[in-house]
Amino acid sequence: MVHYDPYMPEIMDDPHRVYAQLRAESPIHYIERFDAWALARFEDIWEASADDVHFSVGNATAERGFLEGEPTTMEVLSSIDPPRHTGLRKRLFPHFGPRAARALEPRVREWVRECIERHAPTGRMDAVNDLAQPIAFRVACAVSGFPVEDADDLIRMVRDSFHREEGTEGQTEVGQLARDEMRDYLIGLAARHQAGAVNVHALDVLASESEANVPFTAEQIGQHLTLLLVGATETFPKAFASGLLRLWQHPDQRRELCADPSLIPKALQEMFRFDMPTQWLGRTTIRDCEIRGQSIRTGQPVLFLYPSGNRDEQEFEKPDVFDIHRDPPRILTFGTGTHRCLGAFMAEMEGRVLLEELLRVCPDYEVLESEVFWPATEFVQGYRDFPIAFDPPS
Ligand code: HEM
Repeated sequence: MVHYDPYMPEIMDDPHRVYAQLRAESPIHYIERFDAWALARFEDIWEASADDVHFSVGNATAERGFLEGEPTTMEVLSSIDPPRHTGLRKRLFPHFGPRAARALEPRVREWVRECIERHAPTGRMDAVNDLAQPIAFRVACAVSGFPVEDADDLIRMVRDSFHREEGTEGQTEVGQLARDEMRDYLIGLAARHQAGAVNVHALDVLASESEANVPFTAEQIGQHLTLLLVGATETFPKAFASGLLRLWQHPDQRRELCADPSLIPKALQEMFRFDMPTQWLGRTTIRDCEIRGQSIRTGQPVLFLYPSGNRDEQEFEKPDVFDIHRDPPRILTFGTGTHRCLGAFMAEMEGRVLLEELLRVCPDYEVLESEVFWPATEFVQGYRDFPIAFDPPS
């Protein structure tokens, strides 16, 4: 009988063996200690993500509090339901959508080239810390309205806020301190921002937002900025580093990409499918329902095990094979439905530009396997350090 708990050490090391067992033996899995359910199959996660009738995002943050039914005071885009969610998302979307991503692309390319040029002569760089992470933070700053010169401080705060300790489940004291620091910084930024500023950033939208005719407080704006910053920066660099690992493990596919960069968007989808960093996000059941004959009661939390869905053999042929030509009609990496990732277009643009530039300058990079670092966490999994070596360009 398969055992699953999001905090199991096995899940933190390599969750896919347990996920495969769950799909086969217990696709709607009851987690007794949290009185919660975990969904392991693609179709179930896809359907439940789009089901605003039976499930609510209220209180569904990825913390133990959600599983233990503790109320949260967070009121951000990802934790409010329609109809409140609808208008705010519509006003924010233009800053994240395909047109915004296309407009930002030339600056992103410039930043990527600067990062690569700085490190290329040494023949070595860390694909997370020297490349994907600074780019993800600059994109977050540019879209959200943070001063770009604060990016390094922000990198530290976000990184520490996900601090984990062996033997401690969930958040640690270091993590809580970093979250408090980040919250104060973001509230300060929101308070300094004048409502009615030119509409070029998400921050302008938030500053002119109101609820029941009461303008958002600096605290509310700060909470939204935290979501944007963390959403934009914690996931992307990890997904990118894992993708570089897969290309390195499949040199034929890497050579194909170098020879024909028009394959990069498809390859990126496969990278995002194969190694989805966010292990789960959840919903709270607001109306009794049934999934595959299993009754789910009002009030019970439901976890979407996205990486399991992305390796579901009922959705993908040979799901454990990495294949840049796969081109599936849908993947779960950005979710679906009302709360589909707002930054998906930005992430796809960043990933494409990074791959185009990196493979052009360092087509034969080697992963320095003995130096990579994968911290243990139940939540957003991936490499924190990912050094690569290559022949310096002549
Ligand atoms: C590879 C990178 C990324 C991954 C894997 C990812 C994944 C996700 C997932 C799974 C959701 C939740 C979907 C749901 O609950 O149904 C989400 C929501 C969200 N993401 Fe992303 N994301 C990424 C990049 C970004 C970026 C770059 C940004 C911002 C620039 C961003 C901002 C957001 C926001 C604001 C939401 C909440 C949307 C809403 O509730 O309406 N994400 N993301």
